[in-house]
Amino acid sequence: MLVLTYKSYSSFFKKACQIYKIYSAIYTMVNVAVIGTGAMGRHHVRIYSELENVNLVAISDLDENNGKILAKKHSCNFYKYFKDMLDKEAIDAVSVVVPTKYHKDVAMYCANKGKHILLEKPISDNIDGAEVIIEACKKNKVILLIGHIERFNPAIIGLKKQISSGNLGKITSIISKRVGLFPSRIKDADVVVDLAVHDIDIFNYLLEQTPEKISSNLGNALIDDRSDYANILLKYDGASAFIEVNWTTPIKIRTLSITGTKGYAELDYITQDLVMYETNIEKEFDSFGDFVVKFGEAKHKMIDIKKSEPLKNELTHFIDCVKKGTRPKVTGEDALEALKVCLKVTGDKH
Ligand SMILES: NC(=O)c1ccc[n+]([C@@H]2O[C@H](COP(=O)([O-])OP(=O)(O)OC[C@H]3O[C@@H](n4cnc5c(N)ncnc54)[C@H](O)[C@@H]3O)[C@@H](O)[C@H]2O)c1
Repeated sequence: MLVLTYKSYSSFFKKACQIYKIYSAIYTMVNVAVIGTGAMGRHHVRIYSELENVNLVAISDLDENNGKILAKKHSCNFYKYFKDMLDKEAIDAVSVVVPTKYHKDVAMYCANKGKHILLEKPISDNIDGAEVIIEACKKNKVILLIGHIERFNPAIIGLKKQISSGNLGKITSIISKRVGLFPSRIKDADVVVDLAVHDIDIFNYLLEQTPEKISSNLGNALIDDRSDYANILLKYDGASAFIEVNWTTPIKIRTLSITGTKGYAELDYITQDLVMYETNIEKEFDSFGDFVVKFGEAKHKMIDIKKSEPLKNELTHFIDCVKKGTRPKVTGEDALEALKVCLKVTGDKH
């Protein structure tokens, strides 16, 4: 009798464990959708369809042809209008990847529907827009992550570690270069709001402050209606930073170099290479040979970086924040700070 009771208890326990496992697997599954599946949005779709514990429920795009093809490829539902999608599908979280001028309307609608939001950068093209998005997400208690993708670049994460551990000493200067040819699909943003916003956010992040003074030289060389080049000088407390961005250089370059009192580092955003140079101020030189030894061959090492796709890291982080209810690495406020600098550069008073 006792054995029977034990057996039935043990089988009940096993069943309960199985049910719990199934329940928790379902419970931790996040239902996502992507709104806007153009040049960038289609990568959100691809990555969500590959992530574990993510159920890509549906996508939406005003372009029905491309949207339907993409939905078929990734076995999810398609909607032309995102409002219909949010009404008809059970969705926890959305990526908003529509052109920047529509960020406010789409993000506000999603926030008011209680959806967690990954909103592509820049947060908005004007300060009012950014502020109302942040407010709506707070009011509705939904997570807002802004897609400042370079924060999820393993080389930047490696560089931040080097700075935090003091290997570069006190940072005195940062220079970044983000140049290439004009992507003609961008109809609504200039080169500062579209490109320099990445570098400004990274500078703020690395230096853990926002700039005190901003000066710039910008203009349009190859397109008529917006700035397609800008050179921006930012003065931070104790450090200065310079950004060269353009849509006129025939080769795509994405680099950053940083100088501190103990060393210097060079980073390539594309290859994710990070090289650290040690400052050698002790040795004097009396001959040209010594001069070459002292200045020609700085001791340097390649930092071991585990390379991975920044967008995949960003989306994984977003899902993690949704599941755990934690604060995202790039908040709406961070993105607003970067936008404010951009608008000061362009002279936009919005
Ligand atoms: N993080 C990055 O590195 C990065 C790179 C590229 C673009 N972006 C950002 O992504 C956003 C989109 O840029 P893109 O280059 O993919 O533009 P895109 O023009 O290629 O794609 C935008 C898509 O949104 C769709 N769309 C517009 N309004 C819509 C609506 N109301 N509902 C559903 N779909 C709608 C369009 O039909 C189009 O397919 C921009 O904010 C841009 O700044 C970020």
